[in-house]
This record gives sequence, structure tokens and C-alpha cells, in this order.
Amino acid sequence: MSKKLITAALPYANGPIHIGHVAGCYLPADIYTRFERMRGEDLVFVCGSDEHGVAITMKARKEGVTPQEVVDKYNAQISDAFERFGIRFDHFSRTSRPIHHKTAQEFFRKLYDKGLFIEKETDQYYDEEAGQFLADRYIVGTCPVCSNENAYGDQCEKCGSTLSPTDLINPKSALSGSAPVLKKAVNWFLPMDQIAESPAFKEYAKRVEGWKSNVKGQFKSWLNEGLQPRAMTRDLDWGIPVPVEGAEGKVLYVWFDAPIGYISATKEYFEQQGNPDGWKAYWEGDAELIHFIGKDNIVFHSIIFPMMLMEHGDFVLPTNVPANEFLNLEGNKLSTSRNWAVWLHEYLDEFPGKNDELRYTLTSIAPETKDSDFTWKDYQLKVNSELVAILGNFVNRVMVLMQKYYEGQVPGGVSERHTELLAEQAKQTAQITKLLESYRFRDAQSEWMNMARLGNKFLADLEPWKLWKTEPEKVAGILTDALNICARLAILGEPFLPETTQKLKQQLGLSDKFTWADAGKAELMGAGHQLGAPFLLFTNIDDEIIEKQIAKLGQMTEAQNTPTEETNPIAPQKAEIVYDDFAKMDIRAGIILEAVKVPKADKLLQLTVDTGLDKRTIVSGIAEHFNPEDIIGQRVSVLVNLAPRKLRGIESQGMILMTETDGKLFFVDPGEGTTAGSGIS
Ligand code: MF3
Ligand code: ZN
Repeated sequence: MSKKLITAALPYANGPIHIGHVAGCYLPADIYTRFERMRGEDLVFVCGSDEHGVAITMKARKEGVTPQEVVDKYNAQISDAFERFGIRFDHFSRTSRPIHHKTAQEFFRKLYDKGLFIEKETDQYYDEEAGQFLADRYIVGTCPVCSNENAYGDQCEKCGSTLSPTDLINPKSALSGSAPVLKKAVNWFLPMDQIAESPAFKEYAKRVEGWKSNVKGQFKSWLNEGLQPRAMTRDLDWGIPVPVEGAEGKVLYVWFDAPIGYISATKEYFEQQGNPDGWKAYWEGDAELIHFIGKDNIVFHSIIFPMMLMEHGDFVLPTNVPANEFLNLEGNKLSTSRNWAVWLHEYLDEFPGKNDELRYTLTSIAPETKDSDFTWKDYQLKVNSELVAILGNFVNRVMVLMQKYYEGQVPGGVSERHTELLAEQAKQTAQITKLLESYRFRDAQSEWMNMARLGNKFLADLEPWKLWKTEPEKVAGILTDALNICARLAILGEPFLPETTQKLKQQLGLSDKFTWADAGKAELMGAGHQLGAPFLLFTNIDDEIIEKQIAKLGQMTEAQNTPTEETNPIAPQKAEIVYDDFAKMDIRAGIILEAVKVPKADKLLQLTVDTGLDKRTIVSGIAEHFNPEDIIGQRVSVLVNLAPRKLRGIESQGMILMTETDGKLFFVDPGEGTTAGSGIS
């Protein structure tokens, strides 16, 4: 039997986990590993937090803390949430651990020593104000593909294109907002174009043919577009130092180091088991490597990391990359910055004992082939009309009748439908198995629920409660058959609903030691077996609870109320005005000459503005968005004939025009070459 290494994308330790992450890769990976464990597969399931890269340092800036504080905080929060939710990793590591730094550096060094990297001096964007190179997310600009104005230097989140900083139109530093300059820097590039032409890669590409169509699609479109050498190092100060002389101040590209985290996590796991060499067998020979990820990670797991592994030579290549598409929430894209999310830790707090309700809903709408939508109403419906009304109801009816007629002791015997009932269950069992093997968890779970439907229909057809008076011997066979369906549901349902099936086994008086193969047995509970006490597996979710959750969406806490990079809804057009209304406004080009903070007012800056007419004082509510020293000399548009008013005792004589996009403020620039005092009309 070959060994299997199963991975779920290492979450960035820069924020909590939401249901989109859960549905994207953690839940499917958990279902799959539970299934494979029950089949007796020799597997290890690893994950960990991704603690390098600009995602972390940007968050640290935003929160005003150190990157280390960011990763410590979110690593703890994320691993705790997974633990409570029952995502059962064998090991959850961190890319900040020494074992990972060492593994990643050795990996890089091996490729470096074999002369794989192209050492190239290129123009890199540099923020002169911040004194820092601008990699990846530190640079924002317009996407050349879809014109999204908030694309990052490494990726456009709107159209999914992978970009280089120099692809961006109108690039801006995310640090200072200023236009960056180009500065030469040496970096090491992975020659992806060449590797793509190698026989080894072409051989590997054949196996991708058998993967999910969304993954295959992205893989092919990348190759068709033509791969470019990609820098594997960055001029940043947060990350794993590049282990090469003369590379001071440079770190490994986060997408170089993070996937190596799967290797380090496996090493660390076996080290902790007292078997420091044990990890190798999961990365060599005929070991299988399966990466569960979301669609934004496809290129890294289907092309870049395999190229790295291939060139390194000591490791297996991925056997499969069952990536999911995205989950939306109530019709909108999940958004951290707008708090449009259902956070896992909050769900766990607010719905104690209801992990499986969320698991069930998320699996039933899993974005396996295309984006899908989570709605709270749907959650309520899935719980009330499937978990309660189908599964819960079936189990409860059987359990209650068993108590009533037989004091919970299995009478034995078979019903008149026994043979066909077994045949149907065998078919369903085979189907569920096949679907799980092919990563179709959504259909697998739905087929499993069909088995509960089968049970309900069987009871409704044979109506044992009507026969009890007249033909009690028939009732024994019916309830024994029904109980065997319950037991089969308990075995087959474990990957999907581990807590529920645990409770179910408890009620049925069954041990925990079932294997997947046991689900194929005709008789799981025979005459004389004593059942436990019945209790309800699920309860209905009330409207009130759902309404509360819906109302909560998008509400910002103070901490979340920070500027964002995402698109806010555009405000509707205001009521119509006539030209005269407009003509009354005197708007002039101006220049900010001085700027100081207004004491004890968080939001206010006191500006001295050259309006061409005069130099006047204007108090502006922009202190949270700009440093006073950064805006000296800024060209602005000023409404000069606005009646003066006092703000914090300072008379403000006009108003500076601003544009707000996604919580960020921008000056309305009258344009290069304009002089103070020019009218704007
Ligand atoms: N941190 C990345 C993300 O959240 C995923 C990293 S996966 C790994 O998108 F392979 F690099 F580890
Ligand atoms: Zn785009």
C-alpha cells in the first residue's frame, strides 16, 4: 500500500479563518482523510500557518504591531479554531519554525548549486519615502487585463491574473501611496519557461489530464500563455534569508518557502513521534501527494511547486490537486475588510455543539466545480429539513419504537423487503465510496443522505406501528432492518459528520472501531444487541437566529474599520440639480503649504493652502489617512466660497475635495501644470 501525504493550503497567519476557507480546502481535506483513514490507508495529513510574505507585514502595519506579533496572534487563533471545529490534522506547523527555515534554505541551496536559477539584475519598484523595495502586495495599480484599479503586484484578485509589479498600469506604493521609482536589484529567477519544455515536466503534465477540470483548465491556460522566469527571492526584511553570499537583505519569495512547509511539517511531525526519518517515506518512491487548495492557489500547486520538486529531485510530485472554486456569502464575495464573512471562531462560539450543521451545509454547497453561495436561509433549510427532518427523524423513530416495543434490545429477524433494501444500501455504499475517491464530496454526502431517505420511506411503507397489535413478529424484522440502516449511516457518515455519527454510535450501542469495509456487511447489529438511550441528534434552527446572523453581516467592529483594497458599492446618484446650483460653487486649484495635526482630534489636520487668492487655513478630516509631512506640496481642489466654520476652535475657510474609494481617500488633483487659483468648472 502506498503512503499518502495529504495537505491543506497553509493559511496566512494574518487573519482568522472564515467559511470560505473552510469550504475551499480544509473541510474537503478533512472529509477525505477521515475516509482514507477508515479505509486503513497509511496517511499523514499536514498543515500549518504561512507566516512570511507581504501579507503578514502589511497586516502588521495596519494593526501597528510587529510582524511577529501578527503571526503569533493568528497562528494561535487559526489552530484553535481548526481544533474546535474538528479538522483533524496529524500536524499543524508554522513556517516560522527553525526546521522550516532550514528545510527551505537547503531546498533553495540545492537548486542554486545545480545552477538552476537565473541570476538577474532587474528594475524593481522602490518607495523612496519608505526606503523600501515594493514586492507583490506592496504595489498596487491598474490590472492590464481587466482594468481593476486595485490589482496587486503579484495578482489581480478580480480577474485572477498573475502579474508582475511592472505589469501594473499606474503603479503606486501601498506604503505611502506615492509613485514608486525603479531601482536595480539582483534576484534569482526560476526558469519556468525552460522547465516547462523539459521531458520531465511534459511527463508530469500527462497526469494533470486526469485532474478536476477547473484545475486542468488553469494549468493549461498558464502553459498556453507562455511561462516566464519568476523571481524566487525578494528584497524584503521579513522572511527566510536567502542562503547565498551577497544576498544580504533578501528573503525567499513566500511562494517559494510556503509549499516547502508541507515537507517541514511532515519532518516535524515525525520528529515529535520520535522517528526523525519517518517523514521520508511520505515524500519518496510511490508515495502519493495530494494538495487540497482553493482556486487562487492552483498555479503554485500545479506548476511552480511541482517544478521546484522536480528540479530538486528527492521528492514525489503531486498525485492530485483537488482545488475548489470560491464560496460567496449571501450573493457577495467574502471580504475581510468589509467584514462580509462568517468567521469560524465566531460560529464556534455562537453555535456550540453545532459543528456538523455547518459541515453539512458547506459540503452540500461545496464550490467543487464552480463558485457557490452560502446563505443563512439555506443553512437553516439544510438543518431543519434535512438533518432534523430526514436523518434525525429516521433515527429517532427507530430508536423510540425500539424502546417502546423491545426496551432497546434488538429483536433480530428480517423484513419482507430485506433483500432489496440491502441491495439498495450496497449500491449507495459503492456510490459514496466512488464519489469520495474522486473528490466529489458534495454528491457523496447527498448520496449518504439518500440512505436516510431510504430508511424513512421503508418505515413509511411498512408502518410497523400499525402492525404491532396484529402482527408483532413482522415488526421485529422491520425494526432490525431499520437499525442496520442506522448503523450503516453511522459508519458511512463519519467523514462528513464526525460528531453526529459519534452520537449515533453511542445511541446504537456500537463501538467506535468500524472500518469503511464494515459498511459493506449485511448485518451490523444482530439479535440481542442492546441499544443506548435515545436522544435527538439535531434541533431546528429558529428564524430569529438566522435573522440575527444576517443582520450581523457587514457590521464593522472598530478594529476592522480600516481602509481596504476592495470595492465598496457605489453610492446612488443624488437628486438632480440645475446648472446654477453648480455654478454657485467656486472651486480652485490649490497647493498645500503646511499641515499639522489638530491636537486631541484624531481625524483632523489643519492645513495652510495656497488658493491663488490667498493663503488660508482649512481644517480637513483626513488625519487618519495621511501623514502631515507627506502632503506638503500636494496639489488639491478647493471649494473656496464655502461659508467659514469653526472646528475645534479653528476657523476653516473652505473645503478640500477628496475622492473616497474603498475607505481610502484620494486628493482630487487638478492636474500637472495647473497653478494655484485656476478655476475648476
Ligand atoms: N497562504 C496561502 C494562501 O492563503 C497558501 C499557501 S499554500 C502553500 O493563499 F502551499 F504555499 F503552503
Ligand atoms: Zn484583473
